Amino acid sequence: MLGQLLLATSRSALVRRSVTGLPLTRKVVDRFVAGETTGQARDTVERLSDMKLAVTVDHLGEETLDAGAAAATAKAYVTLLEALHPLGLGDRAEVSVKLSAVGQRLDEAMALAHAREICAAAAAGGSPVTLDMEDHTTVDSTLRVLRALREDHPSTGVAIQAYLLRSEDDCRELAGEGSRVRLVKGAYREPASVAHQSKAAVDRAYVRCLRILMAGKGYPMVATHDDRLIAVTELLADRFGRAIGDYEYQMLYGIRTDRQQALAGAGHTVRVYVPYGDDWYGYFMRRLAERPANVAFFLRALGGK
Ligand code: FDA
Repeated sequence: MLGQLLLATSRSALVRRSVTGLPLTRKVVDRFVAGETTGQARDTVERLSDMKLAVTVDHLGEETLDAGAAAATAKAYVTLLEALHPLGLGDRAEVSVKLSAVGQRLDEAMALAHAREICAAAAAGGSPVTLDMEDHTTVDSTLRVLRALREDHPSTGVAIQAYLLRSEDDCRELAGEGSRVRLVKGAYREPASVAHQSKAAVDRAYVRCLRILMAGKGYPMVATHDDRLIAVTELLADRFGRAIGDYEYQMLYGIRTDRQQALAGAGHTVRVYVPYGDDWYGYFMRRLAERPANVAFFLRALGGK
């Protein structure tokens, strides 16, 4: 209930102005966001890499209706990638892109052109790009852009949201040789006509999608903090003969860092999703919505504790 409310307000301009104006918000946001500048993002990548963690870096921002802002976001990614390449991390440092931040809502061709610029800059340092998945109205467009990008950059990946009723079919389509699919539960408020609503139904759908990906020929990126799903992944890896390195785990910056390090210590590739930038509102509200304890943490900080 609280989660649904927070997801609804994640798109409200009025609440955005109120929350971003609160004096202590920044301190709380820092738990989930790696900083505002390219330099801070680079420092975080270096620190995580020293801890044997791979990264995927997200320049915060979404849903722009302004062509100039879309171009600026693409440029920010290119600048970021140029700052990351000297670290020599290759595919252990990739970027995640929300197509809506590079103009998808204005013109799909514009978003594709910007995504191509980002893929080319990433390829120069040997790193792939993964497309985030946003609300259900964008899925067909995002998968079209993915197919176009993969013609020149076959390692481009995409997030698939287990809560969508269509996702098992999408996983089947994407389970082929060379594909990289990040499986997530899904973080947006979606109607029952397109998405499973209960936590249990979403978890079951996640397992069905995971099974398809693990049985397939691509590279599954298992993005969850859920211990039960990690246990299921290990069972499926065993069943389908996937060794460590034939799939990876992904978690969000600032969430279950102990678990991230334990999995990496056991030899798994663990990739941390590192968001940075000043447009953190939508991302932050989705993290609050996922876990009531985060709201309590937010309120305690506002109260000065
Ligand atoms: P679940 O929410 O059931 O959480 C399991 C456990 O993890 C909780 O009990 C708690 O211990 C911990 N946990 C989870 N969320 C937490 C939080 N916010 N704070 C503290 N603890 C928390 N979604 C999307 O729609 N499109 C996308 O492109 C992406 N991309 C993406 C990349 C990566 C690397 C990750 C890890 C996640 C995404 N997501 C996403 C978000 C995803 O859809 C989902 O909302 C979150 O991962 C939470 O779901 P879990 O699978 O962790 O399970």
